[in-house]
Amino acid sequence: MQKPVLTINDLATDFLECPDRHDTGSEKWDRYRGRTTSTGKEILPFWVADMDFKSPDVVLDAIRKRTDHAIFGYTHETPGFATTLTTHLHEQHNWQIDPSWVIGVPGIVTGLSITARLLSQPGDGILTLTPVYQPFLFLPKLAERRSVRVPLHADVNAQRWTIDWESLEAAMTPDVKIFWLCHPHNPTGKVFTREELLRIADLCERRGVTVVSDEIWDDLILDDSCHIPFASLDHPAARRSITFVAASKTWNIAGLGCAAAIVPNEDFRKQWRQAGGGLVPMVNPLGYAASEAAWKNGDPWRQKLLDVLKYNKQLAVEAIHEISGISCIPPQATYLLWVDCNEWVAGQRSGQNQPQQACEDAGIGPSNGSEFGSPGFLRLNFGCPPTVLQEGLQRLRDAFGARKTSGS
Ligand SMILES: Cc1ncc(COP(=O)(O)O)c(C=O)c1O
Repeated sequence: MQKPVLTINDLATDFLECPDRHDTGSEKWDRYRGRTTSTGKEILPFWVADMDFKSPDVVLDAIRKRTDHAIFGYTHETPGFATTLTTHLHEQHNWQIDPSWVIGVPGIVTGLSITARLLSQPGDGILTLTPVYQPFLFLPKLAERRSVRVPLHADVNAQRWTIDWESLEAAMTPDVKIFWLCHPHNPTGKVFTREELLRIADLCERRGVTVVSDEIWDDLILDDSCHIPFASLDHPAARRSITFVAASKTWNIAGLGCAAAIVPNEDFRKQWRQAGGGLVPMVNPLGYAASEAAWKNGDPWRQKLLDVLKYNKQLAVEAIHEISGISCIPPQATYLLWVDCNEWVAGQRSGQNQPQQACEDAGIGPSNGSEFGSPGFLRLNFGCPPTVLQEGLQRLRDAFGARKTSGS
């Protein structure tokens, strides 16, 4: 039976408005602060991956309780952090971990850098599937490693992203030691299937490559697919792998700087701190309190959020399908939409072919695909109230629709 289409009346009212984020040091809102279009509109930010929704009361209450304690000394993993995460992963993703595998980290980007140093030597290669979240591309160089990139393939007929297995295998030369997997995948929103994960596991096992799976988006699945943690596979490559998760994307607490590395291999755990090279600070106590509360009591709010994100995805995908020259494969997860503008670019006179510029001129600020290794693409963050999204989509129509008519 077909699922009923969500309407605005089905959405919880908490998600229908956006508190003013100006003057809060917001990365997202400060990028375009004071920059207006030729018609005087403030450019609306649709770029970095945080949402314009308030975190749920269960999270706020936990932070208040922690601040009432009023002592904020150096803090390691709190007693409930690992056990709550263990229960959450078991309930949500059918993955049984041991709480002793959990290490608190102040961010996954930091954690990825640690794995580069833990699992490889200078000059070695770190493999990833592109396009991909920017740090996957620039961190290897900062760690004096080589970035090895294999493009994902857009199967437009099937409306899904696929792996080119021959290219992946060919890229696994002996110096490649790590596969940074982004699962679910930012920016495409792809959720890797069990078959794909097993095939990755087989390849990596054969070539001596350790999988590091960044699963920060695991609780934001928007369709019928199921998130399968890479490390939950019954496979030797899974037992050697390292996984990152966080409550930050789902419960909108990225600024609190708290994530978890799940490291089943005892030797890796022992070498972890050393691999951080003295550069990694401890996680702040509010981050632990908020993450624990989100995993423990945040599911009812998450369900309401998922309704809003599904509704917004529908709005955005429909709008993009109506604009000629741009297209997208609907994301299976995340609140990000990866928009292919190459047809539009090809139809422009040279010098007028920058989709990012066209958007900013029309008053909408997405992420530029070049940053993910794909010029000609844009990434649109739809984690905002539907009315804000609708305004953004109107500006997107202005950016591409209007230009197409006037330019032709
Ligand atoms: C795949 C992925 N990993 C990591 C991060 C950032 O994680 P953190 O803020 O914990 O460094 C993001 C943020 O968008 C992301 O999309």
